[in-house]
Amino acid sequence: MIEYSPTPKAELSAYEKAAEEGIDPRCIPQHLIEIPPVGEEIPYPIYSNVDQESWQILFNRQMELLPGRAGEAFLEGVQTLQLKNSQIPALRKLSNILEKTTNWKIARIPGLLHERDFFQLLAERTFPSTDYIRGRHEIDYTPAPDLFHDIFGHMPMLTQPAFADFYQMFGKAALNASGAHRPMLERIHWFTVEFGLIKQAEGERIFGAGILSSKNEVIHALSNEVTKIPFDIETVTHQDYDVWHLQDVLFVLDSFEQLVDAFTGWTKKNGLL
Ligand SMILES: [Fe+2]
Repeated sequence: MIEYSPTPKAELSAYEKAAEEGIDPRCIPQHLIEIPPVGEEIPYPIYSNVDQESWQILFNRQMELLPGRAGEAFLEGVQTLQLKNSQIPALRKLSNILEKTTNWKIARIPGLLHERDFFQLLAERTFPSTDYIRGRHEIDYTPAPDLFHDIFGHMPMLTQPAFADFYQMFGKAALNASGAHRPMLERIHWFTVEFGLIKQAEGERIFGAGILSSKNEVIHALSNEVTKIPFDIETVTHQDYDVWHLQDVLFVLDSFEQLVDAFTGWTKKNGLL
């Protein structure tokens, strides 16, 4: 019989140390240790029936809530990407569709990324996505992004040309940022990519992935409990937020072109691009 001795602590990865200390290791950002597979290189994982059912539950639940709440661009993106309740989509296929639509690609990454790795991929017009799905016991809330958040929450918006350009620009600017510009960029990301609202003829609609992939945020975001402020990039860069609770302040864009213009001006003024 072979006996294995435990790995000395100094040799443990940040993930393993976190697991030993009782922190959910999915919440610890990781450096990429190798180039992640992109597009055609991404294999389709073996998902259990429970995993496939989890996707179905999450997909059906959100799609029922989204008419009249999600923005037009997002709902069109769901169609363009051919997202369906029947099966967890293959990242390879989504990458292929995105490449034809807005020239973005998907990279398969193991979990929450260290910010520089994340920004680098965005700057290359490549969206880092996980391919594991939350457990059934955490179906309503998962502390770290899983494939439902990454695919359903983020990817539809990458089919919108102006938003797709903004997100690449964001990656490039973030790579150049230091000091006070970093929290400012985090706030821009938070109040657009994750929690953004947009004005449409029928009223305010949601496009942020953090809202669209969460049942509670979707119901809450357009309610009277939230203060909605017209988007102004200077105001956004000074607006604090709380990661762990439902959001009580959100910003409303007039259009995605407004976002591109405001971000172009702000990055130029601050010497980031
Ligand atoms: Fe996200």
